[in-house]
Amino acid sequence: MRQWIVLAALCGLLSPFGASAQPAVPDVPFHDSLRGTTPLDEETKPPLIYPTENKDVIRGRAYAQQPPTIPHKIDGYQVDKNANRCLACHARSRAAESGAVPIGVTHYTDRAGATLGSLAPRRYFCTQCHVPQADTKPLVSNTFTDVEDIRLAPGSKPASSHKN
Ligand code: HEC
Ligand code: HEC
Repeated sequence: MRQWIVLAALCGLLSPFGASAQPAVPDVPFHDSLRGTTPLDEETKPPLIYPTENKDVIRGRAYAQQPPTIPHKIDGYQVDKNANRCLACHARSRAAESGAVPIGVTHYTDRAGATLGSLAPRRYFCTQCHVPQADTKPLVSNTFTDVEDIRLAPGSKPASSHKN
């Protein structure tokens, strides 16, 4: 508390307009996509965790380099410095037996572009990029459109001269 008083006093001293130059608090009710309307100095009631889907149905990807979502439960799968449970099924050497999609070649490429004989360290912690599937409402809206769904506006000319 004392630090705040000192800070407030300093701001008053340093500001050419004195205390009256405080930034105005915007006159709109506080709202945040994660916190809702809970004020910043209060704790939110955490929402229920959505149940993970376990349908084994591979979802389409929104764009070419999207890490695919995980179509099965991963509860209790150990991924730490001692063991990587995901590789027990997803390593190229295990895929034939497990029926899992083998990890792509990019997962064997290190940051210098060299292809390694085993998983690249930067791809070790799978859930950094891959998330399980759940039927959730997006926290923030977005207007992303797949490139294949982008249609030319009527009357505009295609960029290339290629004729179909
Ligand atoms: C017991 C074997 C097994 C384990 C362990 C396992 N998976 Fe899978 N995984 C599969 C199989 C089989 C599929 C194919 C779809 C299905 O049947 O669910 C799959 C599908 C996937 C896919 C979808 C691939 C695509 O092309 O869309 C991802 C991503 C994935 N798993 C990630 C993981 C991650 C991350 C872990 C560890 C946290 C993990 N898996 C652990 C068996 C496994
Ligand atoms: C740094 C992010 C990142 C990490 C970490 C990562 N992946 Fe991926 N993964 C991707 C991206 C991006 C793709 C899609 C493009 C590609 O194949 O590289 C992908 C693709 C895949 C696929 C589909 C391959 C295919 O050919 O369709 C599987 C299966 C997969 N990853 C499993 C894993 C597993 C298991 C791990 C942990 C051992 C892991 N990934 C770690 C980003 C990551």
